[in-house]
Amino acid sequence: MCLRAVAMVLAVTAALTAARGQEAPKTERGEQILNAACLTCHDNRPIDTQALDEAAWTKEVKSMIEKGAEVKAADVPVLVDYLTRHHGPLPDGPGKEVLLNICTQCHDLQRVRNEKLSPEGWAEILQAMLNEGAPLSDKDFEAVLRYLARNFRPSPQP
Ligand code: HEC
Ligand code: HEC
Repeated sequence: MCLRAVAMVLAVTAALTAARGQEAPKTERGEQILNAACLTCHDNRPIDTQALDEAAWTKEVKSMIEKGAEVKAADVPVLVDYLTRHHGPLPDGPGKEVLLNICTQCHDLQRVRNEKLSPEGWAEILQAMLNEGAPLSDKDFEAVLRYLARNFRPSPQP
């Protein structure tokens, strides 16, 4: 490659990077579809309290379309992909219901899914959530603490 070609490649790469950089803060496509098509009859709540895999989300979206949700056929896979990434399956077990019903009241579960903590670390988080006003009974606290400590723990050191 001659120098001019190299310079051009660099310029194009820079332009593409800049364009991507500008797009970053925009809401992603799947979320736009959700905002436009899924929040007309109900709010986010029935969506936030689900933890489904791709097949189950596909079924759910189809069932909503039958109810009257307006989603273009081409947008269905984009929406399902978004739903599966943000509201994907969670391990079964006691405490899961508490997580889905109570821990979704102020924020989605993305921040929970991203954490990997010791039981002590989770107990601290739950205490902080109580201080924020989370309506956790002692029984629910115990159940969700065990659930989180079991399923969202640091991977063992190799
Ligand atoms: C035309 C009205 C309407 C639209 C638009 C709509 N829904 Fe629903 N949705 C409902 C109704 C009504 C329910 C209550 C449960 C039922 O009747 O089955 C529901 C319930 C749900 C539930 C709870 C589980 C269930 O099946 O009951 C989920 C999850 C859900 N909707 C997801 C979505 C998604 C995702 C979209 C966007 C594609 C959407 N909804 C758009 C009417 C709608
Ligand atoms: C009453 C509202 C409320 C409820 C209910 C709630 N949270 Fe939170 N949560 C917050 C707020 C507010 C923040 C942000 C705190 C901050 O950024 O300092 C937060 C942040 C978090 C974080 C990030 C912690 C960090 O240090 O950044 C985690 C993890 C979390 N919540 C887990 C949970 C779990 C698990 C539950 C269910 C037991 C729950 N939350 C229920 C309000 C709530």
